[in-house]
Amino acid sequence: MTTARTGYSAGELTVHRSPAELNKITKALRNAGRRIVFVPTMGALHEGHRELIRHARRAPGSVVPVVSIFVNPLQFGPNEDLDRYPRPLEADLTACREEGVELAFVPGVEDMYPQGAQVTVQPGELGSKLEGAVREGHFGGVLTVVAKLFHIVAPDVAFFGEKDYQQLVLIKRMVRDLDFPVHVVGVPTVREPDGLALSSRNAYLSPEQRAKAPVLYRALQAGASVSAQGPEAVLAAARAVLDQEPALEVEYLELTDSDLGPPRVGEPGRLLVAARLGTTRLIDNVPVAL
Ligand code: PAF
Repeated sequence: MTTARTGYSAGELTVHRSPAELNKITKALRNAGRRIVFVPTMGALHEGHRELIRHARRAPGSVVPVVSIFVNPLQFGPNEDLDRYPRPLEADLTACREEGVELAFVPGVEDMYPQGAQVTVQPGELGSKLEGAVREGHFGGVLTVVAKLFHIVAPDVAFFGEKDYQQLVLIKRMVRDLDFPVHVVGVPTVREPDGLALSSRNAYLSPEQRAKAPVLYRALQAGASVSAQGPEAVLAAARAVLDQEPALEVEYLELTDSDLGPPRVGEPGRLLVAARLGTTRLIDNVPVAL
């Protein structure tokens, strides 16, 4: 691991493990008129994360780009992939350097949860549908760590991918409901040339599964392309494409409004899918003009 250095050095990456140390630096920078722009990640950085960092760097003002790298145990269920989640730290720090990140926050579990996590942030009703129905407790874990990261990093603006659309909606809701002084920006999903949404978990796919995986995006596109015919047509068109791939085990295919409520004709909508290919879960979503 790159040696942690204390302090901040303009234009250079410094790596910090201690929440208190990082907080001291970002607060001093904010007081000096800099804007803290923040990309929270679990590492295994890919082009999607790089795009988030580029968006962050383009934010107005004299920005200080901060990336956190922390595989948050609280958001993994007992049978999920916490242990095998990729942790290529040196490559991640190289990516941070290449993208002009100035502060990398890389805490250990004991730094983030020194006394465990007794008090947590709960997502409410929206946290138990879609992903929340399949991954019990997941969004409580996500919101808890994001709330802590917001307190520690004290960002002006934070950037999240639309790939995890329900996460983005819930984080925006948490910021509103709990008055976090942070502006949350959603960034469109980055895709492989064949349409597969970039995800650190794509690494789990075998070559055969990888070849089949773009069916998710093809189905979403098929649905979105008939949006003028109404919600039922959208779902039927998407389902017809998914049904063509027998190896795919669809967990949900849902059409909602942009806040994940019931779809409303004349309002922007969202078409979301989750499916398993073997043991790998894939999720994706697209906007739909209803
Ligand atoms: O999207 C992710 O990578 C994680 O859920 C996040 C937001 C960094 C919280 O651990």
